Amino acid sequence: MCGITGYVGPRPGVRTVIEMLRRLEYRGYDSAGVAVAAQGGGDMRIVKAAGKLAVLESQLQDHWETHGAAIAHTRWATHGGPTTPNAHPHFSQDGKIALIHNGIIENYQELRAELITEGFVFASETDTEVMVHLVDRAFQKRGSMEAAIREALTLVTGAYSIAVCSSHELETLYCAKTASPLILGLGEGENFLASDIPAVMRYTRSVIVLEDGDFAKITPAGVTLTDLTGGAIHREPFAVTWDEQTAEKGGFPHFMLKEIHEQPRALADTLRGRLTDSERVFIPELEGFTKEQLASFSHIHIVACGTAYHAGMVAKRFFENLLRRPVEVSVASEFRYSDPLVSQQTLCFIISQSGETADTLAALREAKRLGATIVSVVNVVGSSIARESHACVYTQAGPEICVASTKAYVTQLMVLYLIGLHLAAVEERITDETHQGFVRDLVALPDAVESVIGNALLVEDLAAKLADRSVFFYLGRGYDYAVALEAALKLKEISYLHAEAYAAGELKHGPLALIEPGVIVVCLATQPAVFDKMLSNIKEVAARGGTVVGVVYENEHRLDTTADHLLRIPAVRPELSPIVSIVPMQLLAYLVAQQRGCDIDMPRNLAKSVTVE
Ligand code: G6P
Repeated sequence: MCGITGYVGPRPGVRTVIEMLRRLEYRGYDSAGVAVAAQGGGDMRIVKAAGKLAVLESQLQDHWETHGAAIAHTRWATHGGPTTPNAHPHFSQDGKIALIHNGIIENYQELRAELITEGFVFASETDTEVMVHLVDRAFQKRGSMEAAIREALTLVTGAYSIAVCSSHELETLYCAKTASPLILGLGEGENFLASDIPAVMRYTRSVIVLEDGDFAKITPAGVTLTDLTGGAIHREPFAVTWDEQTAEKGGFPHFMLKEIHEQPRALADTLRGRLTDSERVFIPELEGFTKEQLASFSHIHIVACGTAYHAGMVAKRFFENLLRRPVEVSVASEFRYSDPLVSQQTLCFIISQSGETADTLAALREAKRLGATIVSVVNVVGSSIARESHACVYTQAGPEICVASTKAYVTQLMVLYLIGLHLAAVEERITDETHQGFVRDLVALPDAVESVIGNALLVEDLAAKLADRSVFFYLGRGYDYAVALEAALKLKEISYLHAEAYAAGELKHGPLALIEPGVIVVCLATQPAVFDKMLSNIKEVAARGGTVVGVVYENEHRLDTTADHLLRIPAVRPELSPIVSIVPMQLLAYLVAQQRGCDIDMPRNLAKSVTVE
């Protein structure tokens, strides 16, 4: 999603905001731009370019060391294609005001028509450009940047964060936020703004996280915070204690591989503090849920997007088995417009790595409006979804930078297993013996994952054989079907290969027609209760010449003669196998994408955090 940076102070403004943007590159973008209100006056200098930051930098040689208040932006196209004119900053016709924006201006078409009637000429197709012309129009009337920005903000509807710099007021930046994240970094005689904390970490550790409705005036001497109507507000800065290295690749060629390797630690961290000495799960964040309150929930609804949705599919099965209640799992973009059957009797789980996904956040608000109790599973501390839930259980994955999610997914699964067990224990639905058995098996998972990662060479060998194929199917039954969906998503996201997942029993209802020599069919077969059924499906594939890659427990030999290739994983309790069986699938996707020379951490057209609808 779009990255925003801004700087006022003695450093060269252009260089500083571009260096800050580099820290946000992982968020995904398709064009970039920078504006500086150069010291000594004159018009703004604005340079924009379609493509990666390197393209912009190559055009900045004359401006690189320019001093002055500066803003910069990486854009992920929403309204208008990823072209240079559509890149931010957008600027007023006299070139004296520049503005960058993250989010969507919903009423931009009416505003654009109105401005065109008044003689404003548009240089781009974006919704953002209306905002800068509105500010300019108001400035002509009022002669004050602050008043002009405030007036413009009253005219737009939608979700946004914006930053503005202007040669009308040198050494001053303004920013405002109604939805998308925005933070301020506080320095000595200099100040920063950004859409995310890593952008400012190398300059300052003192950060203010802006809330919806905040407006900030930023000069080298300090920041003034008000609400959108001008009323003074105070936000306490906090000290960022993260290690800068945690947001870097740590010796791996890609963040994705680093993050795959971090999974055992992330899983162990996620368990920490949530198990008692007597081998039971206890989640402090859910302490308030009593047996009586839980009894009042007639059903459970899980809502999420992408990988988080696939984690929800695993949880559906686990919760239904343990809590004996209907559990529905919905894609957030469908849920929010479906007039959902949600009421005060609904316990709603919202799953999101970033905690900022626009569809998921909107679904949360809709479920809350309908009276549901909201428990979220989130990775990013203090994110919107975390803040707006009745209870939030954090995964402890640490910053996940690769667009394709890996460690966030397995920690989401871990938290969901823990929640299921916690609630089942409160409701007295499981015996102590069962509870303790699960806990012992959960504790063993980090080692099981470690051992799969240790066998990565075998997957590498397989990836080399498969990288030139173009059609992949992933099949599974039960928990394996949920993993098949996530495995196919991983491959398509980063290798751009066609990958489809099916419940194996559905094969004969359509996809079997596509199986022929050359087609790869990855068959997850870890579920004892349906193993024989799975075996029949695998034989159907083999009989039609498809290349079978079996994923089985290490002690399983019934596929030895049927499968063309086998990936073995440690045997774990079947309900928990998704945490282990996804790991060779992540590695396979990564290694195939590497063979194909793809941009693994920042796949084309995708973004890490999708904060627009
Ligand atoms: C994007 C990311 C996915 C992620 C999905 C949901 O599509 O590329 O990796 O699963 O958003 O994101 P969330 O932050 O809500 O889990």
